[in-house]
Amino acid sequence: MSVSLSDSIPNNVDLSSDRKLLRALERWQPNFLSWWQTMGPDGFQENEIWLRTAISVEPGGWAHYDYVRMPEYRWGIFLAPPRSDDRKIGFGDRAGDPVWREVPGELRGMLRRLIVTQADTEPASVEQQRALGQTAPSLYDLRNLFQVNVEEGRHLWAMVHLLHQYFGRDGREEAEALLMRRSGDSDRPRILSTFNEPTDDWLSFFMFTMFADRDGKYQLSALSESGFDPLARATQFMLTEEAFHLAVGEQGVDRIVQRSAEIMARDPNGEVRKHQAIDLPTIQRYINFWFSSSIELFGNEISANAADYFAAGVKGRHHEHKQDDHRALGPTYEVPIVEGDALTSRSVPLRNAVNEVLRDDYVKDCERACARWNESISALGVDYTLRIPSRRFNRTLGAYAEHCFSPEGALISAAELAASRAKWLPSEEDRAFVRSLMVPCYEPGTFANWIRPPKKGIRGAPLDYQYVKW
Ligand SMILES: [Fe+2]
Ligand SMILES: [Fe+2]
Repeated sequence: MSVSLSDSIPNNVDLSSDRKLLRALERWQPNFLSWWQTMGPDGFQENEIWLRTAISVEPGGWAHYDYVRMPEYRWGIFLAPPRSDDRKIGFGDRAGDPVWREVPGELRGMLRRLIVTQADTEPASVEQQRALGQTAPSLYDLRNLFQVNVEEGRHLWAMVHLLHQYFGRDGREEAEALLMRRSGDSDRPRILSTFNEPTDDWLSFFMFTMFADRDGKYQLSALSESGFDPLARATQFMLTEEAFHLAVGEQGVDRIVQRSAEIMARDPNGEVRKHQAIDLPTIQRYINFWFSSSIELFGNEISANAADYFAAGVKGRHHEHKQDDHRALGPTYEVPIVEGDALTSRSVPLRNAVNEVLRDDYVKDCERACARWNESISALGVDYTLRIPSRRFNRTLGAYAEHCFSPEGALISAAELAASRAKWLPSEEDRAFVRSLMVPCYEPGTFANWIRPPKKGIRGAPLDYQYVKW
C-alpha cells in the first residue's frame, strides 16, 4: 500500500520521502474512497469517463486526458511553484516579513478554521450533485459533471494534505470529520448553508457552478495571497481547475437561456414551457435564488474576523499583489446599512470591510456573465433582460438579514416581500416543472430539448464523442 500510494498519488510535495505524512494519508485514503463510493456520483462508478487529471504544475502541460473509472482517478497533491524564492508576506501588519513555511503558533486556530471551512465545501458539492448523473441532458454534460466532481475531490485532497502535514493530531481529526459531515443532514450538516441546499436538477447544477463555485474562486484567490506559503500555493493551483467549473456554469446557463429565447423568437405568443423548455422568468428566479445564497458565503459586511485575518496576513484581497496599499489602515469603505427604517450607509475602516471588497469583485464578475446572457437573448431578436439582483435581496446572514429588500435593493415591508415572493424566487411549482424536464439523454451527440448544444466539444473532440463509455 505505502509503495503504491506514493506512486498512485501524482504530487510535487516529495510525498515518497515524508514517511509520516505518507502514513497519515494512507490511513485517510480508504475512508475517502468509501466516502466516494457512498456519497459520490450515484452510479457510473464502473463506467470509463474521459477525464482530465492534474499530473504536474507546468502551465501548458499540467493536465492529462484519458478514459478512467472514477474510483481509479488519481487524486493528486500539488503546490503551485513559489512566486519567488524569498516571497514576503504581502499585506497586513506583517507585510514585508518572510512568508511562513510552517504554521506560526499564534495563528494555528485561525488557519485551521480557514482551511477546514474551505475543505468542507469540496466534498459537500459532490454530495449535493450526486444524483445528477441519472438525468444528464447529454454525454458531454455528464462528463463535465464528473470532471467537476473528481476535481472537487482533488481539492479536498489538497486541503487534507495541509491538515495532515501542518496540524498534527488536530489536523488528522479534522480530515476525518470532513468525511463524516453530510450535505443537508440535520444532525451533521456541512459548515456553510449554501452547501446544504439540494442541487437535484440541472438548472440548479449550472446555477451552482456559476454562482457558488465562483464564490470559491474569490475565496481561493484571497487565500492564494496568504502569508502561510503552503496554503497560498495549494489554493493557487486549485484555481487552475476551478476556471473550468465556472465555465461549465456560465456556459450551461447561456445554453439554457439561448434555447428559451430561440423558442420565444419562433413563437412570440406561445408559452416556452409548452415547448418543454425553461422560460426566462423561471431562469431569473433561479438566478435570484442562487446568487443570493452564494453571496452569503462572503461573510458579514462589517467583520472583525475578516479584519483579523487581513491584519495577520493569512487572507488577503482578490489580486492583493496588484493593490497599491497593502496595509489598508487609512482608507474607509461605505457600507450601506439600515438605520431605523431607512437605508443609509456607514463608513468603516477598510480592513473591517474586506469581505465587502471581495464581494464587489464577485458581483462585477456575475454582472459580466449576465451581460453575455443578455447578448445571447438579443442576438436571437428577443426583448428580455436578465438581472443580477441586489446583494441585499433575500439574505439570511449579515447586515441585511433582518430586513426585506426587493431584487433592485429597495427596502420593503415583509408584506410586500411575501406578496412578490413567487415572482422573485423559485416556487415549488417552478421546481417541479424544471424537474419534469430532467430525463437522461445518453445517445452520443444528442441533447435534451431544454438546452442548446455547446458550440464545440471538449479539447477538440466532436460533440458526438463517446465522453462516457458504457
Ligand atoms: Fe473546489
Ligand atoms: Fe469547483
